[in-house]
Amino acid sequence: VPLQPYNTFGIAAKAQVLVRVRSEADLLAVLADPQLATLPRQVLGGGSNIVLTGDVKALVLKVEVPGLRLASETNKHWVIEAGAGENWHDLVAWTLDNGYPGLENMALIPGTVGASPVQNIGAYGVELQDRFDSLDAMDMLTGELFSLNAAQCGFSYRDSVFKHASGGPEGLGLAGRAVILCVRFALPKRWKPELGYLDLERKMAETGIYSPDARQIFDWVVAIRRAKLPDPQVIGNAGSFFKNPTVTPEQCADIIARDPKVVHYPMPDGSIKLAAGWLIDACGWKGKSVGHAGVYEKQALVLVNRGGRENPCTGGEVMTLAKAIQTSVYERFGIRLEPEPVVI
Ligand code: EPU
Repeated sequence: VPLQPYNTFGIAAKAQVLVRVRSEADLLAVLADPQLATLPRQVLGGGSNIVLTGDVKALVLKVEVPGLRLASETNKHWVIEAGAGENWHDLVAWTLDNGYPGLENMALIPGTVGASPVQNIGAYGVELQDRFDSLDAMDMLTGELFSLNAAQCGFSYRDSVFKHASGGPEGLGLAGRAVILCVRFALPKRWKPELGYLDLERKMAETGIYSPDARQIFDWVVAIRRAKLPDPQVIGNAGSFFKNPTVTPEQCADIIARDPKVVHYPMPDGSIKLAAGWLIDACGWKGKSVGHAGVYEKQALVLVNRGGRENPCTGGEVMTLAKAIQTSVYERFGIRLEPEPVVI
């Protein structure tokens, strides 16, 4: 089965078998099938946070579970439940259309609802964990359904138990083991805008609108992302390719002494987060390429496929480019950048 249509980089690779999962019953059928049950498994959502470095010798479970509804409410929150296969941006638009604001800062993030907790997606000052209620998943070892709350998901910056084979809370590593079927979001009834991110402050100054509603923030975020980030439909990519690294205040002072312009943000725990895009940009990588893999001209943190669908870059080219970037950032700043997408 060709996987090129199912990964936003547009890398050409194949899967041995692909099964579309629309329900819990579809997963139970996989477990009951003697041929499928023994294969290693790879869960796939929107394919917007993966790099395929070769053919996938596993059963690919393409999660397409539908559903968008108000599941319940408390005094404080609307609880919205979404099927794992729903498109993330469509969920954000649906919540706003139905009067449940709170996800607007995360507009236009590519991918599916089911993938959103895996890497604790976030943008413009809001992370998934800030709006998360719980999720339902199937344990593929036992066929049992289970629910996890936020604490059990072990969220941190672009991370959760779903990214780890072991470890996490109570030794609960769920990579390759759990398939997320639906996610519930707790959206506050007393909505407050989150406007702390520099790009949003700029929009306020430009427009003179200092008390935007959720729809206005949604529109700003969409505009900011369209201006900076490549549309995967037009130029293949997997969003930010590296995590923003954190350093100690001493390390940061050291870097500022040599590069006063380094973009840095103090974190609540006293560490300092650096903008990886700035570090890569400072090393001169914007616009550079290895084969058909390149560094996006407008945002150095994003690696892109310059060959389109016809002559796509390979996962190997992407990883060679990524390693060269890591080496040069390490040599200049002494910082090891960690890849953000899942390398398969
Ligand atoms: N910068 C440069 N040169 C560049 C890129 C960035 O100097 O080539 C500077 C910018 O000027 C800015 C700073 O670095 O001052 C930060 O850039 P930006 O606001 O674009 O955000 P980012 O830190 O690069 C992160 C997330 C994005 C998210 C944005 C907005 C990570 C790894 N990335 O990017 O998430 O959309 O903030 O919140 O945390 C993703 O995870 O795939 C993703 C796109």
